[in-house]
Amino acid sequence: MKSSKDLPIKGNYTGKDILSLDQFEAASVLKLFRVVEKIKKMRKKGKNLNYLSGIVAMLLFYEPSSRTFGSFSSAIKRLGGQTISYQNPFQTSSAVKGESLEDSTRTFEHQSDVIIVRHPEIGSAIRVADTATIPVINAGDGGGEHPTQTLLDLYTIYEHFGRLDNLSFVMSGDPYHSRTIKSLIAGLGLFKKNTVYILSPKALRLSTEDKKKYRENGTLIYEIESFNDMPKKSDVWYWNRIQKERFKSPKEYKKVIGKFVLTPKILREKGSKNLIILDPLPRIEEIELDVDKDPRALYLSKQMENGVYTRMALLSLIFNRL
Ligand code: NCD
Repeated sequence: MKSSKDLPIKGNYTGKDILSLDQFEAASVLKLFRVVEKIKKMRKKGKNLNYLSGIVAMLLFYEPSSRTFGSFSSAIKRLGGQTISYQNPFQTSSAVKGESLEDSTRTFEHQSDVIIVRHPEIGSAIRVADTATIPVINAGDGGGEHPTQTLLDLYTIYEHFGRLDNLSFVMSGDPYHSRTIKSLIAGLGLFKKNTVYILSPKALRLSTEDKKKYRENGTLIYEIESFNDMPKKSDVWYWNRIQKERFKSPKEYKKVIGKFVLTPKILREKGSKNLIILDPLPRIEEIELDVDKDPRALYLSKQMENGVYTRMALLSLIFNRL
């Protein structure tokens, strides 16, 4: 049995689980980006790549998904691999009968070469990884982490600015529950001198524990409560919906929804020329539709496009097939 959580990448992805940003250092992230660039170039030239031929991936999505599920499926198939997909295994697998996640894992590992799992419980991906003898990728464990989203977010930022240090961010939404915000802040901590302004209702701030951990990595974190407190110039705005399904009651959710909606007016007043706007999506009401046409808005274009390439690169490295 392996305990995968602590296995650092250290430049070698072969056979590794991808569970947390804690496994990464800057050089491994940049190594992945070189592969993303290569695959992107070849695909744009119309080249067919077969790095995953003969590979079967098990997609186990206990929580709903459009982008992560679709882009993993697409990445595998575009590299000549195949997928077995369970969307909502709570209704379609033996989980309905009460089978444990561990026993399901022991089954699926005989049928596939990699397990990609999304599950509502924090730590679930580690449970799967600790049971499986094949690589496991965390596609979101409740309000925990979402490492592959962060890798594609970081790539999109890197593609635009040519660096991942000395950047200033405003992140808005639900940092307390949002795995994409938490993983991204952890990812920025692998690089130097990044500053993050977190714009959220007080009740949804990062937990003290998370904040401490991210600050220890050297990232400057400021918590703000009003658009007026946003810095004059920032490089990246990262908006993410309030995570409705993680609230104890609908009443609590209603109290915090709709407070920091990104509008063309805010963009005119606070957006610098070289800004980029990202959102892992789905959009609920955190960004007004009129923002979409601004060339700085990358959430419907490059960010999603890079999701497929980043996952192609990651899987190719895990299977050492380049
Ligand atoms: C996010 C997720 O599932 O955490 N979406 C995604 O994977 N692209 C963001 C969200 O659901 O808010």
